[in-house]
Amino acid sequence: MNVPILDLTRAHRRIAADLDRRWREVVARTAFVLGPEVREFEAAWARFLEVPQTVAVANGTDALILALRALGVGPGDEVLLPAFTFFATVEAVVLAGGTPVLCDVEEATCNLDSAAAAARITPRTVGILGVHLYGRPFDFAALGALAARHGLWIVEDAAQAHGARWQGRRVGGLGELAAWSFYPTKNLGCYGDGGAVSGRDPDLVARVALHANHGQTGRYHHTLVGANSRLDSLQAAVLNCRLALLDEDNAARRRHAARYQERLAGVGDLRWPTERPGDEPVFHQVAIRTAHRDALLAHLQAAGIGCAVHYPAPLHQQPALAGLVPPDLDLPVATRAAAEVLCLPIFAELTGEEVDRTCEAIAEFFARRT
Ligand SMILES: Cc1ncc(COP(=O)(O)O)c(C=O)c1O
Repeated sequence: MNVPILDLTRAHRRIAADLDRRWREVVARTAFVLGPEVREFEAAWARFLEVPQTVAVANGTDALILALRALGVGPGDEVLLPAFTFFATVEAVVLAGGTPVLCDVEEATCNLDSAAAAARITPRTVGILGVHLYGRPFDFAALGALAARHGLWIVEDAAQAHGARWQGRRVGGLGELAAWSFYPTKNLGCYGDGGAVSGRDPDLVARVALHANHGQTGRYHHTLVGANSRLDSLQAAVLNCRLALLDEDNAARRRHAARYQERLAGVGDLRWPTERPGDEPVFHQVAIRTAHRDALLAHLQAAGIGCAVHYPAPLHQQPALAGLVPPDLDLPVATRAAAEVLCLPIFAELTGEEVDRTCEAIAEFFARRT
């Protein structure tokens, strides 16, 4: 039995009839950009996140850039962020005109380490860009306290954490602003690119919206130089269909993750990220760690089991950042994570048999090595 890392056709089948109706309406109405479907989604996403307002944008990278611009990031402003995340997190800081300051991550979660972040604060530091990596909330208690002590803002990169809760509160309403990606593979994904920004302060979210639509306050009246970053109605329709299923989907992901963990307990040298009591991760990825990662990856691929490495290199080793990172920067935890992490098949519609087959193949691999 082959096991796909992700099968979007199964998700599509569940929304096909609703989506067909919505898309016909969009086409009949011809409001293709920022139409009623987009407004419906922005309101529904705000209700879901328990925040007053959200603004839909073109993709998650733009969501980050626009959030940083709305907070006034500019030349000389230093932003602390984890060195183990998707490249877009750091790219956004650079494109917004700021200076990224890469920090090491926690061994247990691969999220930004508050002590490492504290050690890199300077008089030029303006904010913290935390990432809820793999759908697991970062330590907002520690990072929030650090931000408060130094007068910094916090932006959440929530691109992998749709629906997660930190100590009972939805992520996306913790810091000043949060950026979302609706890339098709996300827990809440559309059928192309899409993104959003959420926040607790409606004026700040409105400022993001202004940046996202050419800084336009009235027709052909521009109060700042913004961007064209808008969600289209066809994508919003997909999100409206899929948002209704998100809590249910995340519960299924949690069940699959628990099954993996139970079946793989004590197998080889496998290690799992740990949860803080009171947090609810949403398992965008089920990421295991092993010193034999590359050999296990090859074994699973040969066995027809989809798996992937997110991410094979920490950001401070990316060639694009060579001029921005001190050459002697040593981030041992992020570097080790990049060498050890392996992400297993995970999506809501995955079956118990598929989880079991994956676990069996992993157990086989370690049995052969002993
Ligand atoms: C952590 C993180 N940040 C930012 C992004 C960027 O989102 P997008 O691909 O929608 O631009 C992604 C998505 O790939 C991500 O995983």
